[in-house]
Amino acid sequence: MHKDVERVLISQDKLENIVKSLAKQIEKDYNGRDFIMVGLLKGSIVFMAELMTKVNLDFRIDFMVASSYGGGTESSGKVKIIKDMEVDPRGRDILIVEDIVDSGNTLNFVINHLVSRGAKAVQVCTLCDKPSRRKVPLVPDYCGAEIPDEFIVGYGLDYDEKYRNLPYIGVLKRSVYE
Ligand code: IMP
Ligand code: MG
Repeated sequence: MHKDVERVLISQDKLENIVKSLAKQIEKDYNGRDFIMVGLLKGSIVFMAELMTKVNLDFRIDFMVASSYGGGTESSGKVKIIKDMEVDPRGRDILIVEDIVDSGNTLNFVINHLVSRGAKAVQVCTLCDKPSRRKVPLVPDYCGAEIPDEFIVGYGLDYDEKYRNLPYIGVLKRSVYE
């Protein structure tokens, strides 16, 4: 285990099972639909890479970058689109892939943005959810794991751009950010 990690919250084995199960649900629900899987960078990279290889359907992928966090562990609430989709979302069926939903501010903003650009449908698949921290009503359509109010890293999730490469999800030691 990494020296900055207090404990493993979701092991590699568990992550694999979670991703497989999400992929099965998506495969069933999206069968026959012409959709785009849109990853929110950078947190979704590991999850999306694993997920998309397990969804045995024809679909396109794209990415967006939205900022709200900066360097800390709290969302600023002010969300900006740093990089938009390359494909025009007008009339499209979109499945957003996200690492974690916390206050919900980021996804709320991104969903509204895509809908205002004319997307036909927007759903959300998140690996983790911290429902206790929600500030705007947002229920992910697909969720891998509900987690307690702790700051987690690994499997794409970072603190100050570090720990994204850990193959598990762990709780970051408070001493690292306090
Ligand atoms: P929200 O806008 O407050 O829902 O924040 C969502 C974003 O904050 C996520 O996409 C993550 O990038 C980041 N985030 C929230 N909680 C954590 C965490 O525990 N670890 C790492 N990143 C987090
Ligand atoms: Mg993120």
